[in-house]
Amino acid sequence: MTELKDNKVVGQIRSRERVAEHGEVFTDEREVNAMLDLVKDESSRIESRFLEPACGNGNFVIEVLNRKLGTVRRKYGRSPSDYEKFSIIAVSSIYGVDILEDNVKECRERLYDFWNAHYTEICGPDCRDEVRKAAKYIIRHNILHGDALTMLKNNGEPIVFAQWDLAMGNKVQRLDYRLDSLMRTHDEDQDQMELDFGMPEWNTDREADTALSEPVRKYPLVNYWEVQKCR
Ligand SMILES: C[S@@+](CC[C@H](N)C(=O)[O-])C[C@H]1O[C@@H](n2cnc3c(N)ncnc32)[C@H](O)[C@@H]1O
Repeated sequence: MTELKDNKVVGQIRSRERVAEHGEVFTDEREVNAMLDLVKDESSRIESRFLEPACGNGNFVIEVLNRKLGTVRRKYGRSPSDYEKFSIIAVSSIYGVDILEDNVKECRERLYDFWNAHYTEICGPDCRDEVRKAAKYIIRHNILHGDALTMLKNNGEPIVFAQWDLAMGNKVQRLDYRLDSLMRTHDEDQDQMELDFGMPEWNTDREADTALSEPVRKYPLVNYWEVQKCR
């Protein structure tokens, strides 16, 4: 059985049925860190985008958030308003999908609790409830219940991820992309690289990829603490 201790999972298996049906075996903290160390710089860069297509209850995404918030703290820890803004940018760049609803719920809660614990510690009396609501809203849109193989949500609709871009000052632009179109763009790029150079493109810049697909929806610019009001 699994339990949480200091927001980290203890134990790797919930039940034999879940292992058999969904391959659910949670990754130990040591392996998570060893794997993320393979992309050390990207895992601690504030804006780098991470997608965990089988996120479980969040072992990888929590550690990515931990690393990103470490960078935010080092760079902006002395300024509550800067820490606030860049901690939102950090959490908004982390994405996950899982086929089991309880995993999705736990993953969202862990991400929010982790983000909020650090926000509360660093910003203290400057903390704002609307910023907490914005963080919750972003996490709910970034961690989705669905099937990463069919790229459909549990209700049969396509998985759509929101990209949150810091545009200017405190303004954020939300652009929604279908996961299948992001993956198609990436595959087409890769095919072209193989044609051009006779080798697969191992070093893909995923952020450049998103620029090549068309968003399914563009939202007006809003302050980062108002993303939940943006329709
Ligand atoms: C080996 S566990 C890994 C969980 C987590 N990434 C970790 O390392 O702790 C695999 C996870 O994939 C999920 N899963 C299985 N099939 C899936 C699918 N088609 N789409 C999305 N998630 C899936 C399971 O529910 C499970 O949480």
